[in-house]
Amino acid sequence: EDALTRIRNIEMIEMGRFRMQPWYFSPYPKELTSLSCIYLCEFCLKYLRSRTALRRHVQKCNLNHPPGDEIYRKDSISFFEIDGRKNKAYSQNLCLLAKCFLDHKTLYYDTDPFLFYAMTEYDERGFHVVGYFSKEKESAEEYNVACILVLPCYQKKGYGRLLIEFSYELSKREGRTGSPEKPLSDLGLLSYRSYWYQTILETILNFVQQQGTLRSADGNENDENEFDTQVGLSIMDICDMTSIRREDVISTLQLHDMYNYYRGEHVITLTNEMIAAHEKAVAKRPIRIDPSYLRYTPKD
Ligand code: COA
Ligand code: NA
Repeated sequence: EDALTRIRNIEMIEMGRFRMQPWYFSPYPKELTSLSCIYLCEFCLKYLRSRTALRRHVQKCNLNHPPGDEIYRKDSISFFEIDGRKNKAYSQNLCLLAKCFLDHKTLYYDTDPFLFYAMTEYDERGFHVVGYFSKEKESAEEYNVACILVLPCYQKKGYGRLLIEFSYELSKREGRTGSPEKPLSDLGLLSYRSYWYQTILETILNFVQQQGTLRSADGNENDENEFDTQVGLSIMDICDMTSIRREDVISTLQLHDMYNYYRGEHVITLTNEMIAAHEKAVAKRPIRIDPSYLRYTPKD
């Protein structure tokens, strides 16, 4: 690939009340690359050369939310499902914007085979897009996410986690496991690893709680001094409960040294330290996806 095409070509993007400096190349029209700033309609994502042109556009643009179907709303968070074939202009504009922050993979400019799930935050002016993920309508590899992005002005506040959580709620409705398309970026991998670990730990703890007692590795009930807890759950059980794909479950357990060989078989173990750290982490992120607010019917 031509090294030049990878160099950042857009100086600055103004969108709604934010300005963002792109990280990477994005194939916006050449005429835009000489400008010190381009202006995006924050609702339809159309790009314009000047603030004046944007003002003129906004008078005609009557959107105050992404196109497509609103399939989730709880409190101020909504998700819109956008068909890349039916809403081509929006989908292409979303891809152009996303490419500014994605380096590691080819973006498909043929948007027809994809669905886009845009997450918005509502205020009195409308539904403001925070981030999105795309998903192939038919994925031979059973990927449940193609590209995923939180706009830089919203990053590191837990929105990426919400997008990932939502993608797995869709897979649960479909009754299958899924995994993000590879390769993942560094930030993508960090976010997925964190989601997988927290979700698996939560699943195990819920299970253990329902069972009533924790069983220690030597078969006695746990007491304060017990270090490891052995869990009567299989990898398959965890996949079924979370829709996380088998190899992602295994790599997560291994990364945290939770999958050990004991008395001739593999068992999942966790420590009191891990439980305490998990409870702290959960307390820090009050917003979750509530699947009872999801209106989604799998397509096939
Ligand atoms: N440095 C260290 N850790 C980071 C991080 C950073 N810059 N960004 C996210 N993380 C970690 C968080 O600590 C968190 O883990 P924790 O809950 O254990 O603390 C986890 O990743 C998720 O954080 P969150 O705030 O929900 O992520 P985000 O809203 O910033 O979104 C991405 C994460 C990947 C979507 C976002 O960084 C992004 O859009 N990046 C550019 C596009 C991209 O690389 N997409 C993925 C590849 S397809
Ligand atoms: Na991805």
